[in-house]
Amino acid sequence: MKNIKVIIFDAYGTLFDVNSAAEKCKNKIGDKWEPFANYWRTTQLEYTWLRSLMNRYQDFWKVTEDSLDKSMKLFKIDTSMKNELLDLYKVLSTFPEVKETLQKLKEKKYKLVILSNGTHALIEKLVDTNDLGSIFDDVISVEEVKIYKPHSNVYNIPIKKYQIDKKQFAYLSSNTWDVSAAGNFGFYAIWVNRNKNIFDNLDYKPLQEIKDLSNLNNLL
Ligand code: LAC
Repeated sequence: MKNIKVIIFDAYGTLFDVNSAAEKCKNKIGDKWEPFANYWRTTQLEYTWLRSLMNRYQDFWKVTEDSLDKSMKLFKIDTSMKNELLDLYKVLSTFPEVKETLQKLKEKKYKLVILSNGTHALIEKLVDTNDLGSIFDDVISVEEVKIYKPHSNVYNIPIKKYQIDKKQFAYLSSNTWDVSAAGNFGFYAIWVNRNKNIFDNLDYKPLQEIKDLSNLNNLL
């Protein structure tokens, strides 16, 4: 890992806790808040993959709203909660170790970049909300190529920008499929296994697995 110059982070689920929106409404939603949040996330991702395959790109906010509508119907959640959940999704919290870890990496002079399915506006808002503006060198959105991860056009955006070898990028994601795709693409892909998951069988096994981002400071 000596050659790493740029560290790329996935956003949702890796830096920002996607379940925190539904969790903040758990008094109103009740015990089903967690399966509901997981279903919303899974449906949102399925819609990104399906839209990419159908060649019918719509931005991530539209996909987030559409998947929320379906999830609310399935879990019989009152439609009056929709705007509250969407507003909370715009201000998701980071996982606890994120800020301190990023600050240390920044001191070590790595370039720190977000590469996300989210729109620029959504990711900039999350960065600002969590006071991370001075930390990131770049926020890159799939909006630039209008297709979602795991399409290789997405992982190619930072290559075009930085003009360095693929092996000089570390790629961090908690999403197993995203790690597989980034690894197959040629990045040094590291899996942030926050929930003791099982990895996928998709032609790539992560070279490193860490339980949260704080472990990164020992690797880099
Ligand atoms: C992202 C999703 C995949 O931020 O988590 O791109």
